[in-house]
Amino acid sequence: MSLFGKKKQKPSQNAYAVVTGAGSGIGRSFALELARRGGMVVCADINLAAAEETVALMAQAGAKGFAVQCDVGDKAQVQQLADQAEVLMQHLPTLVINNAGVGLGGKFDELTLDDWQWCMHVNLWGVIHGCHYFVPKFKQLGYGAIINVASAASYTAAPEMTAYNVTKAGVRALSETLSAELAKFDIKVNVLCPTLVPTNIIKNGRIPGRYSKLADHALMNYAMTTSDDVARLTLNRLDSNALYTIPQIDAKLFWLMKRASPSLYAKFLGTGYRLFK
Ligand SMILES: NC(=O)c1ccc[n+]([C@@H]2O[C@H](COP(=O)([O-])OP(=O)(O)OC[C@H]3O[C@@H](n4cnc5c(N)ncnc54)[C@H](O)[C@@H]3O)[C@@H](O)[C@H]2O)c1
Repeated sequence: MSLFGKKKQKPSQNAYAVVTGAGSGIGRSFALELARRGGMVVCADINLAAAEETVALMAQAGAKGFAVQCDVGDKAQVQQLADQAEVLMQHLPTLVINNAGVGLGGKFDELTLDDWQWCMHVNLWGVIHGCHYFVPKFKQLGYGAIINVASAASYTAAPEMTAYNVTKAGVRALSETLSAELAKFDIKVNVLCPTLVPTNIIKNGRIPGRYSKLADHALMNYAMTTSDDVARLTLNRLDSNALYTIPQIDAKLFWLMKRASPSLYAKFLGTGYRLFK
């Protein structure tokens, strides 16, 4: 049994980790932060060249990484990723970060069912697949850790983001349930729920033209925290056995308002939307 299993080592230290969506943004920051903490990381992404760039950045910092092409929405590819990670690192994985995700916006009746399926495929099925194929490995090892990247959208219910909100609420519910179910196996779970983080999510997403420039501008210029800050904080929260990482003040404020009075919050949201549209 490892030091982490004997509770002498924190899950973010010297991890054998797999990060999905590691070719950009928050996923890349997770990979680099894990490297700083002495870890080895399998960087999985649908975009292999982007994952390879992350591995090159890790190498510059003297850390070992592996790039693997994987579409997280495809169960066979995620199963293969889990098996391949064990072979590449010559160790069972100790941490999986289910981070890959895509942005989707637009009025409910503008979204096509294809849009819904695309968003569910990556954001929700991607995380389900990651948990499904890595939990047995952690049970085999006797310990492990999962970080699922949800969003403040999992509880803010912001209009014109229905599909995205639904996927992220699902990721939060999955994480909350697994946290209770897996505790007795020494498998820790953390769910990350940020508001804006400057990354490529708008550029890579399906956002209606009328918003995309504005949204990207807001993301890049008004975000209160960087992806590096978010990765550091989340790994620290995981180490302290916390279930939730809600990084920014606005994310915390919405979380409190929603929990204090869900009905009042819904009225506030509806009124705000009517006034500003
Ligand atoms: N940026 C934000 O403001 C923000 C806020 C809340 C939550 N999030 C969440 O953070 C996570 C990371 O997003 P980001 O902001 O770093 O965006 P990003 O676009 O910069 O990075 C996402 C990465 O995921 C990869 N990816 C996309 N589809 C994939 C698939 N099917 N299989 C594997 N990889 C795939 C992309 O190639 C990209 O490298 C997402 O789950 C997103 O929903 C982001």
